[in-house]
Amino acid sequence: MAAIAPIGPQLSQPSLSHPPPSKLTTVKALSESSGLSSIPSIYTFPKQPNHEPVSDTKEPIPTIDFSLLISSNPDERSKTIRELGKACRDWGFFMVTNHGVPERMMKAMIEVCREFFELTEEEKGECEGKHVLDPIRYGTSFNPSVDKILYWRDYLKIFQHPAFHSPSNPPSFREIALEYSKRTREVMKEIVRGISESLGLEDKYIEKASNLENCLQIMIANLYPSCPQPELAMGLPAHSDHGLLTLLIQNDTVGLQVLHKDKWVNIHPIPNSFLANIGDHIEILSNRKYKSVLHRAVVNDRDARISIALAHGPAMDAAVSPAPMLLEDGQNPLAYRAMKYKEYVELQQSNKLDGKSCLEHIRNRGI
Ligand code: OGA
Ligand code: NI
Repeated sequence: MAAIAPIGPQLSQPSLSHPPPSKLTTVKALSESSGLSSIPSIYTFPKQPNHEPVSDTKEPIPTIDFSLLISSNPDERSKTIRELGKACRDWGFFMVTNHGVPERMMKAMIEVCREFFELTEEEKGECEGKHVLDPIRYGTSFNPSVDKILYWRDYLKIFQHPAFHSPSNPPSFREIALEYSKRTREVMKEIVRGISESLGLEDKYIEKASNLENCLQIMIANLYPSCPQPELAMGLPAHSDHGLLTLLIQNDTVGLQVLHKDKWVNIHPIPNSFLANIGDHIEILSNRKYKSVLHRAVVNDRDARISIALAHGPAMDAAVSPAPMLLEDGQNPLAYRAMKYKEYVELQQSNKLDGKSCLEHIRNRGI
């Protein structure tokens, strides 16, 4: 990871017995420095006047009852698939309830990520990756080598499938994350089947086209420490997710906003639910019938927020393109060209996080 000019408290010096600690100050270290009442200018964002948040309660995001999606009663299932299709079309975001993943497992996952962020910077520095496709990466902001303004966020990203990786510290991380990632993949697979059917495709179409057996599953643990000037800082800027389906959980602190009908909406998840959103690869596969949706994370001056996103994409070497059945009659020309998922992820992660710029990059021109 490239170094930027040190700001705030310095990290400990490299010692010969350890890998060199990051030269970057993490937001956690910064927020804990005594007497921090204003944020360094490198974290100060210009205002975004076009997108004021709407009232929190006006239009709640859709909820999908997972138990009905996998119901053996065909009426219940098809009704839920219709709701799922509508949620993908209208919002791109929905809550998933009755998913069967035990609450204690979700809580344990959040807790062990909190413990990870509590480790010393030197200990966490062992997870600092060098390349965007390294299977374990700890860092701050999004991509400090290109971010002109830094985001108020530290992160840990871990590839969990097709090969499972885990930091060795905290010691319980591995066991908790292994189980959680498996259970989450099962939920993902059923939702992807439902999405496939809702598009009028065979239920396994997306699964086969993207080789979900070998899907790339990345855990992204985000820490947004409390911020003395939350109105000036940004946790994560507006972006869409690169994969097929992201399943997110968080601690009790809100902060996620979704762009819906040109307005930012604050999301208040139902406790014990997953917050699901479709990513760029559903937009590609569906030839824009379903669109990946911009979302961002804002920060607050009271509590630290932790969110854990499990991003599920095609297999790394799969090059997904729009489903031919959705192009028929020539009314819907091919909207995207295919790109290997590995290259797509690399493209997104090596650049500024900038709305849907990666998807634009593979858009067929002239339509
Ligand atoms: C992400 C993301 C939002 C959040 O990690 O891709 O959008 O609420 N996170 O932390
Ligand atoms: Ni996201």
